[in-house]
Amino acid sequence: MIRKEPRLYYRVFVWSGTLRLFHWTLAFSTFILILTGIYIHYPPITTKWAEFKPLYIMATLRYWHFAAGYFFICALAVRFYLFFAGNQYERPTDFLPINKRNLKSLVYNIKFYLYLTDEHECRMGHTILAGTIYFVLFICGVVMGLTGLYLLYPETPTIAKIGHELFGTPQQARLIHYLLNWFFIFFILVHLYIAIWNDFNAPDAIISGAFSGSKMMPADLECPVEELEKIPFEK
Ligand code: HEM
Repeated sequence: MIRKEPRLYYRVFVWSGTLRLFHWTLAFSTFILILTGIYIHYPPITTKWAEFKPLYIMATLRYWHFAAGYFFICALAVRFYLFFAGNQYERPTDFLPINKRNLKSLVYNIKFYLYLTDEHECRMGHTILAGTIYFVLFICGVVMGLTGLYLLYPETPTIAKIGHELFGTPQQARLIHYLLNWFFIFFILVHLYIAIWNDFNAPDAIISGAFSGSKMMPADLECPVEELEKIPFEK
């Protein structure tokens, strides 16, 4: 919310270094996976070109896809660990709509983004809307990892068995992998839009927070003081 009168803010530390490492590893690996994946699906350079001068573009980009895929899987493993061992804001109990307070917050968040209210909710961790979408993204990431491994190692008996049980034939797994690719592209566009929109319309400073790990919290009545007191303030 844009306010004209002066307001006091606290800088509070919310996101651990491990969470930020997860975020940027996932961001960079997803970026490479999307670019190389689109090339794998729609290779613009034909065999004729390759015969003229072999460039091994497909082989190189597939190699990059698999290398980024392993970073992507490691990032998801770290996030899974943080679901249990992270600070209170990094755990699903904080950001999923599983209790009355969070459900109320979810309705509030939706109203805020639909321009139905100007009141911005003061919240240390993820908003409930963001947290729920990130959780869905995590599940989609697991499906991407599993279908990817199934496509990569179809001849390994254990992987082939699990892959077949979960997704059917490799061709069906490939279709799921391809369709979820568009979900990731859609997510990134909306995620960037909302991050920038928030920087204009809310005081939290979430973009710099993705680097520094901190959020700006208004220190007046809109923010429950007990919540602020739980957090170590940064000097
Ligand atoms: C957000 C993450 C990912 C995205 C957006 C993505 C995207 C894509 C796309 C668009 C394709 C082409 C599918 C087609 O031709 O229909 C593809 C193929 C493939 N991906 Fe991924 N992928 C991701 C994660 C992974 C991971 C984690 C692995 C495992 C290491 C993986 C392994 C593969 C394999 C083996 C293929 C098939 C390559 C081929 O047919 O030559 N991908 N991916």
